[in-house]
Amino acid sequence: MAKLKIVLATRNRDKIKEIKNVFKDMDIEFLTLDDFKGFPEVIEDGKTLLENALKKAREISKFFNMPALSDDTGLEVEYLGGAPGVYSARYAGENATYEDNVNKLLKELEGVEWDKRKAVFKTIVALVFPDGREFVAEGANEGHITTEKIGTEGFGYDPIFYVDEKGKTYAEMSLEEKNSISHRARALINLKKIIESELF
Ligand code: IMP
Repeated sequence: MAKLKIVLATRNRDKIKEIKNVFKDMDIEFLTLDDFKGFPEVIEDGKTLLENALKKAREISKFFNMPALSDDTGLEVEYLGGAPGVYSARYAGENATYEDNVNKLLKELEGVEWDKRKAVFKTIVALVFPDGREFVAEGANEGHITTEKIGTEGFGYDPIFYVDEKGKTYAEMSLEEKNSISHRARALINLKKIIESELF
């Protein structure tokens, strides 16, 4: 079989590193959107992570006529009825920064006791081929939302997502440690198993 080439439908360097790391022992060449001059801006207007992940992978795959891998992630906070969920990227507004979103979440949970600060990070990954084949996998990680930012690593909600099984936030972990247990790593490992059995 010719070497599998996959376009990553993301420009987030942290995610690209995470993805390449999970698949490093497989004979796959990953291209990123930075390897191309033009690419379509995909509007993430789905009502679920699955809809968004599939939309991104389908549009990028169609545009480049190559297999495309995308992911969509949401942070679901129990006390907030699952919010921000699929709206995690724009929780504090359309052009919100990571910091805006983190501050808003801390504010929404002000005074809420620890036991009610339960949260789960969920990721859906989708690999779509130009011939229409689609593979989807999910990963999750449970934790609590801290009352203040702790740690300096990572991105997004990492400083306030306390991973129960590790006893620290994602932002207190090295990339390797986060990659060994993160919601996205788990989704990617599940996808890897599917690819290994279906394609190789
Ligand atoms: P996306 O679907 O991966 O673009 O992520 C949606 C939102 O969740 C963005 O605001 C990201 O910052 C946040 N997010 C996604 N993955 C992570 C993560 O691994 N740690 C912290 N925040 C994340």
